[in-house]
Parts: sequence; C-alpha cells; structure tokens
Amino acid sequence: MCGIVGYIGTQAATEILLSGLEKLEYRGYDSAGVATVWEGDVHCVRAKGKLHNLRSKLEQLATQSQIGIGHTRWATHGKPEEHNAHPHLDTARRIAVVQNGIIENYRELREELKQKGYEFRSETDTEVIPNLIAELSKNADSFLEAVRQAVSHLQGGFAIAAISADYPDELIVVRQQAPLVIGFGQGEFFCASDTPAIVAHTRAVLPLENGEIARLTPLGVEIYNFAGDRLKKQPRLLNLSPTMVEKQGFKHFMLKEIYEQPGVVRASLEAYFNTEVNSGESFQSPVKLGLPEQFYADLEQIHIVACGTSWHAALIGKYLLEQLAGISTQVHYASEYRYAPSPPTANTLIIGVTQSGETADTLAALAMEKERRQGKEAKYQARLLGITNRPESSLGHLVPHIINTLAGIEIGVAATKTFVAQLMAFYALAIDLAYHRQTVAPDKLADIIQGLRQIPKEIEATLESQEKLTEHLAHEFAETQDFIFLGRGINFPIALEGALKLKEISYIHAEGYPAGEMKHGPIALLDAKVPVVAIAFPGTVYEKVISNAQEAKARDSRLIGVTPVSDGEAGEIFNDLLPVSSVDELLSPILTVVPLQLLAYHIAARRGLDVDQPRNLAKSVTVE
Ligand code: F6R
Repeated sequence: MCGIVGYIGTQAATEILLSGLEKLEYRGYDSAGVATVWEGDVHCVRAKGKLHNLRSKLEQLATQSQIGIGHTRWATHGKPEEHNAHPHLDTARRIAVVQNGIIENYRELREELKQKGYEFRSETDTEVIPNLIAELSKNADSFLEAVRQAVSHLQGGFAIAAISADYPDELIVVRQQAPLVIGFGQGEFFCASDTPAIVAHTRAVLPLENGEIARLTPLGVEIYNFAGDRLKKQPRLLNLSPTMVEKQGFKHFMLKEIYEQPGVVRASLEAYFNTEVNSGESFQSPVKLGLPEQFYADLEQIHIVACGTSWHAALIGKYLLEQLAGISTQVHYASEYRYAPSPPTANTLIIGVTQSGETADTLAALAMEKERRQGKEAKYQARLLGITNRPESSLGHLVPHIINTLAGIEIGVAATKTFVAQLMAFYALAIDLAYHRQTVAPDKLADIIQGLRQIPKEIEATLESQEKLTEHLAHEFAETQDFIFLGRGINFPIALEGALKLKEISYIHAEGYPAGEMKHGPIALLDAKVPVVAIAFPGTVYEKVISNAQEAKARDSRLIGVTPVSDGEAGEIFNDLLPVSSVDELLSPILTVVPLQLLAYHIAARRGLDVDQPRNLAKSVTVE
C-alpha cells in the first residue's frame, strides 16, 4: 500500500524517482507525486490517477535537482484527489514528506498543530508529519534530530522519507512497521518501499529494521535507532536483476507470471526435495526444509492465518496436512484471528502465509501469537512458521522459521505464480510431517514426489492447450455479469481462487462454492445467464461434482468443465471443456488453477481493463 522512493546523489533526481515509482505502482496507483529541493526551495508536483499523469506534468516543471522523494498512493485517509496525494509540505513549504502506513493519532496532532498556527491543505494523516518536523526544527540542532523527535510523537505503523529546503544535502528516512530499503550506489543513495524501484541503479541494499532512522547524504548513510544511538550496518547484495522486473515481450506482467509457473515448480522441487528419492528401510526424509526437530515433537494441531489468495493456498495446505500428515488443521482469516484467537496450547504450530510478507493483518495475528508465547517453554515459542516469497520482509523479522517460496518477484497485483509457489511449500511441509509422523508409507511419499516432478511439464502442456481455448471463451463471456465456480475436496479452494481471480481483475461478480453446498442456497442464482465453471477431477469426489454440475445444467446454466476427462458423462454435460492432464488427484490443484488464471486474464484483457493494476487494489496490503 503506497510506494515510497527517494534519491540523493549526482544525477537529476526526477527521472530516477519516476522510474522507481513505475516499479512501485503495484503498491497503489490512485495518485502520485514527487518533491525536490532546487535553488533553495522545495518543488512539489502531484497528480491524480496513474503515473503517466504525473510524468506529463513534470515534463513542463522538472528541475535539475539531485535530491528528491516520490510517492505512489493507495488512499486510506482522504479521497484519491490531487490535494491528498503525497508529498505533503509543511505550512511554510520548506519540508516535504512521503509516508507509507497509517498515523493513528493524527487527529490529536493536527489539532495541536492548528492551535500553533499550522495550516492543513489535505484530509490525510501524513500532513501532520512535515508540520510537526517544522515545529520541532525550531529547537533541534539538525534536520535528523527534528525528524527523530517528530517520530517519537507518532503512533501507528509507517515508513517516511523527508527532505528540507534548509538541508539540501540530506534525505532522512524512517521505518516503523512498514518496509523501507536503502540502496547504496557510487556517490548516490536511494531509498524505496521495495527493491524493484532501485535495482536498475544498485544491487547493494540494506533493509531498515523497525525503529530505525537514517540520514542519506551524497557522502554516505548513517543509521540510528529511535533513541539516537548510531548503529553499524552493512548492505547486502540483492539477488534480483533489472530484467526480472520487465514484461519480456508479454502484454501484461500477469500473463508473464502465469507462464513462469513451470519454472517456479521446478525451483521449488530443487529447493525442497532431495534428489535421491530412496525407499525401503533406509528411507530418510525426502524433504529439506531445515526446520528444527522440536518443531515436530508432539505436534497436535496447526492453525494457519492468511488473507486472500494466500488463504486459498492455506486451505489446500489444510487438506494436505490433515490427509497426509494426520494433523488437525484450521485455517483462519488473519483479520479475524487477530481479534478472536483460538485458545493457546503448547503443541500447536501457527503458520502465517503471505507472499509479500507485509500484509498488516497477517503480521498482527502472528505478532499477537508471538507475544502470548513469550516466556513459555522453548518448543512453544519455536512453533511459529512463515511461508513467504519475501524472506527479507517484516514477516521474516517476526517469526523464527520461514519457508521461502521461490516464485521470484511478482508484479501483477493478482497473485498467480506466488500461489503455486505457496502450494509447493505446503506439499513439502505436509510430506515432511507425514515422514516424521509415519502417517504415510515411505514408498507412497516417494510416489507423490515423483508425481510432483511431472507437474512442470504438465503445466506447460496446459498452458499450450489453454491459451487459445480461454481466449476464445473470454470473447464469449466478456459481457457476462455473474459467474459461479464449483469444486470439492482439494479443488474446492481452487473454485474460490478462480472466482477471486475473475472478480478482482475483470470486475465481474463471481463466487466459488463447494459443489455440494450449491443446493443449499446458491442454486437460486442459476439461470441461462449465469455460467458455472466446475472443477471435476477424477478421485474421491469426481462423481459427486458431476452430479452437482448436472443440477446446474438442469437450471439452464452453461457449464464449463476443468477436467482431464473428455468422454462419458463429462463429455456430455459440459458445454465447454478446459482440459488438464491426468495426474494424482492430490496434485491436481497446481494444474486446475492454471486455466482459471488464464480465463480471468483473457476476460479482463478482452474487456480492455488494466489487468496488472486493477482498481481499488494494491499488491501489499500494509493497512488493517
Ligand atoms: C489476490 C491477491 C490478494 C492477496 C492478499 C494477501 O490475487 O493478491 O488477495 O493474496 O492481499 O496478500 P499476501 O499474500 O501478500 O499476504
């Protein structure tokens, strides 16, 4: 939510800020702005809407300044209008601030500042910050000191970058519960909410920790804690190249990321599973997740917290953990769990799933859980696990153990390859636990892993066969208003995910249901105008799904089948088939999700919508 970028060095700042903001637009895109210091003044340009609006405005007004801050916004306080866009200036227009997060006590601060004569021009929480810094600058002996004191008055979670016309060689940045990284170049330094914004300039980065404040000058970077003590820290080298954040010939990032999924599965197989799949008595754990032994001993239950697509991955995780490892598992919306947690027990493992590692609700649920485990026995404290695509994120700092999912950076706001990567993490975890708990025979585990090894080429085959089919269907459904997705068993969460993908990027109303539930209410929605997508995969519930699909057909719904079966009853009842390869039902979700991602993508593209940046959404939801 909201992206921050900052630059200080020897080049013109504006273009560096704009290109950085382009890479952060996925974090919010309802307005944007930059501020620079030039010839003794702060120059601030802001525009409502997408970044190209700001770019055109800057073409007339750009300065040659070598210091600046930029922001792309996802509105929390105040509508997405230009006067609410960042940067925000103090009343005297000497200080500019960009912020990502929420200042919870901004109302009190604003009243206090108003009484002292400060004026406010926006409805945002952020505008108190430059005014507070201006007020504290009156008695502080440096800009850094004024910002440090201002931060001590702020409540909430935030990342801040600030510049001042009176300190033209200083960029001050702060991190408290919202991400911020510093980039180290040659005589130039950068800051950003996320690394893609700076990777074109440097790969030497230092993520700030919560409670840290830094002064960036053309000569170097000084880091302090909020108490003002200087800290010694070294940057590390980023494993991300500028081409990884380009579209590489695809029309949209989402499509590119769907096509990257076979590679994601291959990378996960290599990282999580031993190459030698042994069998018989000498069977060793086939999984290498690096989790400590105390993790497994007397484990009785698992609670998983997550949001959105990660919550869908967690539901498949539950299926695997219960059916393979025999551990009772509950999946919670993080936003619910944090206020109504299950009673604490020592033998419970808590897993937080978040691709970004920054989702506020998931972090808060885990932080609450961590806190109530403080002072308890060691194994209890150790049983907190994060599954994330960004191990360097806030989640990585919060929990003692991480499974790093290997999707690579995902730019499209709709999660695709990170979902598949999360599924791979759950397969590895469930197989590992099944091995330790001896709930599945070693040979059967070896078979499952062998099956997983076939998945990349099966996804490739699905992509090849589905591209044209889904494009064709998209043409027919571009004006449809409602969709129903049905699945059962391990494919029920895929029905939810198919519906979520469609609604978030095409703005078509879509709902996913467990197929057996349809007759308990949702069936009333069905008629010839409401197509039904049914995932019918041979195994435990295949016949049941086919009967449920029949019930929909009897209400005149057009039926689309995601299935490896093209003859018999399936061949007869489905109006359209989205065929997938025949694999073990247990592994089928990694395949069945692919045509649903493609269908959503092509419908949205056909409707001419902004697939990578759908309205009202943001990639990292860093507010509650
Ligand atoms: C859907 C989507 C969102 C996220 C949700 C959680 O395509 O992207 O529903 O899954 O906001 O995000 P993370 O996984 O970063 O916690």
